Amino acid sequence: MSAAPGTEYRGTLRQPRRVERVSWRAHVAWMREHFHPGQHISVIVPTGGGKSFLVIRGLLPALPAVWRSRILLVDDKGDDPTTRDFGEPIDRYPLPLVRRMQRGRQREDRPEHYRLIVPDWTWSPDGSTSRGVEHARRVVGTALDAWYKEAHEGSPSVLILDETAALTGVKPPSLNMAPVVKRNWRKIRYRAGSQIALTQAPLGVPSEFYHQPTHLYLGPILDQEQRRRMREIGGNTKTIEYEVEQLQDREFLFLGNKGRHMHIVMVGRS
Ligand SMILES: Nc1ncnc2c1ncn2[C@@H]1O[C@H](COP(=O)(O)OP(=O)(O)OP(=O)(O)O)[C@@H](O)[C@H]1O
Ligand SMILES: [Mg+2]
Repeated sequence: MSAAPGTEYRGTLRQPRRVERVSWRAHVAWMREHFHPGQHISVIVPTGGGKSFLVIRGLLPALPAVWRSRILLVDDKGDDPTTRDFGEPIDRYPLPLVRRMQRGRQREDRPEHYRLIVPDWTWSPDGSTSRGVEHARRVVGTALDAWYKEAHEGSPSVLILDETAALTGVKPPSLNMAPVVKRNWRKIRYRAGSQIALTQAPLGVPSEFYHQPTHLYLGPILDQEQRRRMREIGGNTKTIEYEVEQLQDREFLFLGNKGRHMHIVMVGRS
């Protein structure tokens, strides 16, 4: 076994133990060995902390199990420089018939990588009136439903939610669509589907965000109430809270294989 350096944790710890920093290359080696289609990944850090960079620029090109898969990125920002060059931009999924036929004529070996640009929606400052919310909900709901139904074992797929709380949060300006997102966490793995869920808002996501992933990346979270939410991850809670508080910008505390493996990593650092 070519496990990267890091710390294997078993059982509960009384005292927090320091977690090792490893190179990006070592982290990738670990993930190549341990990430399999059907596993979920969650990533948490406030805005600008490097979530999208980690997934789109870091993990995606490094892991054949991801880039060889069909990928749908749900992009609620549209012109974010970190994600805007990813995949084929689309405004709905499934694709219209003409587009599917064009695709059918293209080379078969080019993986299907789509970026669904969610149409803009707005709420009035007091949250009482909205514009475009129903349309945005329909676009996202139809896409997630079709993606789930099309998923099957012979064709691994990866769904990337660039801002999960924008979809699952109950209160405005979120879209309050937790049920369709939860279905993927609970069931798409049986169809070789993975869900990579990112969020800036630890309090705005359902508990599945913490329980369902096999691998988790936690960035520096300064807010104590937000850090407390991480207790839902279970396992080495003390160590997790302690290390998250110590992290530098763009570093992530990585909990692999349901927290049995831990290290700290930053994309590109040797
Ligand atoms: N490891 C890194 N090396 C170099 N640049 C990085 C790294 N991580 C992030 N960045 C840069 O930091 C900026 C913010 O990163 P990113 O867009 O991934 O943040 P984010 O957490 O997705 O933010 P948001 O929640 O607002 O979408 C980007 O310009 C990105 O290129
Ligand atoms: Mg982002």
